[in-house]
Amino acid sequence: MYKAKAYSAASATSPLASTSINRREPTDLDVQIEILFCGICHSDLHQARNEWSGVMPTVYPCVPGHEIVGRVTKVGPGVTKFKPGDLAAVGCLVDSDGTCHECQAGLEQFCPNITLTYNFPDKHLGGVTYGGYSDSIVVTERFVLHVPSNLDLAGVAPLLCAGITTYSPMRHWGVTKGKKVGIVGLGGLGHMGVKFAHALGAHTVVFTTSPGKKDDALRLGADEVVISRNADEMAKHAGSFDFILDAVSADHDINAYLHLLGRDGDLCLVGAPEKPLAVAAFGLLFGRKSLSGSPIGGLPETQEMLDFCGQNNITADVEVIPIQKVNEAYERLLKADVKYRFSIDMASLKSE
Ligand SMILES: NC(=O)c1ccc[n+]([C@@H]2O[C@H](COP(=O)([O-])OP(=O)(O)OC[C@H]3O[C@@H](n4cnc5c(N)ncnc54)[C@H](OP(=O)(O)O)[C@@H]3O)[C@@H](O)[C@H]2O)c1
Ligand SMILES: [Zn+2]
Ligand SMILES: [Zn+2]
Repeated sequence: MYKAKAYSAASATSPLASTSINRREPTDLDVQIEILFCGICHSDLHQARNEWSGVMPTVYPCVPGHEIVGRVTKVGPGVTKFKPGDLAAVGCLVDSDGTCHECQAGLEQFCPNITLTYNFPDKHLGGVTYGGYSDSIVVTERFVLHVPSNLDLAGVAPLLCAGITTYSPMRHWGVTKGKKVGIVGLGGLGHMGVKFAHALGAHTVVFTTSPGKKDDALRLGADEVVISRNADEMAKHAGSFDFILDAVSADHDINAYLHLLGRDGDLCLVGAPEKPLAVAAFGLLFGRKSLSGSPIGGLPETQEMLDFCGQNNITADVEVIPIQKVNEAYERLLKADVKYRFSIDMASLKSE
């Protein structure tokens, strides 16, 4: 065991603060990574503030962070795919049983014996897992990903959650050229959704509550931008979408989006607001529409997404911040004021 520097929340109401945590020495199949950048996902905020208490209550202290990129510092003797000095990335998962039907299919996100990167029982040290707001992490090789060498690392970190969470449902629901696709909420997930929908060739429409984001949405790859609070603008798109990805973090009216789907269209939730959303049955019945959801993605698809980003030069648009600004960043997330993901430069942890 060794000590690592980290930032943690001591309770649902306390700001994150500097701390030191235990990490295991790498065992046979482990990779130890010096963390260079970690993205700030809205899920970090939900979890740090115990907003998902009904589903995944937070155990304190909580060290969030599941958009991790860094350099390998040490590997166990059984590790074959990484060596010290390699770039490496870790997302929302750090372990699973490896044997169940889902794991065999490369869909580890659905394994009943999954270990999430933070706030999940730690099989090695007891207590819970600690995430990427830290200077290092130790992860079993199967959950460590290769990073394309041509991409900016600060912008790569958010691919590990915001990237795969938007890429996976688009692949599953067949987003491609000829399809009309909506992205609701231009935040961390949403802006990656726009980049992927555009790169996959779909006609891409952004729905935002922030008129000030219109030019950015077009620059990111949107063909059209709709201010979702403007009923006339919304009405023009009634019944026309094949697929809409909803990446909103707070309570909002999803029936307005069901209304915009065409026959057999699908509204897929990736956003995870604290409170349940109301659904009007008739909004689904007429048009045989579907309402679905999708969590992150499995390891093979996450690597596929990273390789796709390497080939198409895709990274997140980031505001790089020192870890000392994490609490300020959380307040800005709540105001939908991020362009479009915070990425923490972990070198800033050295001064703590
Ligand atoms: N499914 C998964 O596996 C998964 C993975 C990661 C994150 N998530 C969840 O996805 C959600 C989004 O995460 P994120 O990191 O992208 O968050 P984010 O960067 O804070 O973006 C959320 C966006 O939602 C819109 N929004 C916020 N409040 C709103 C409101 N009251 N009404 C309508 N729109 C509103 C804003 O976009 P505009 O300004 O454009 O309106 C905002 O930028 C969170 O709930 C997060 O926990 C799920
Ligand atoms: Zn996330
Ligand atoms: Zn499994």
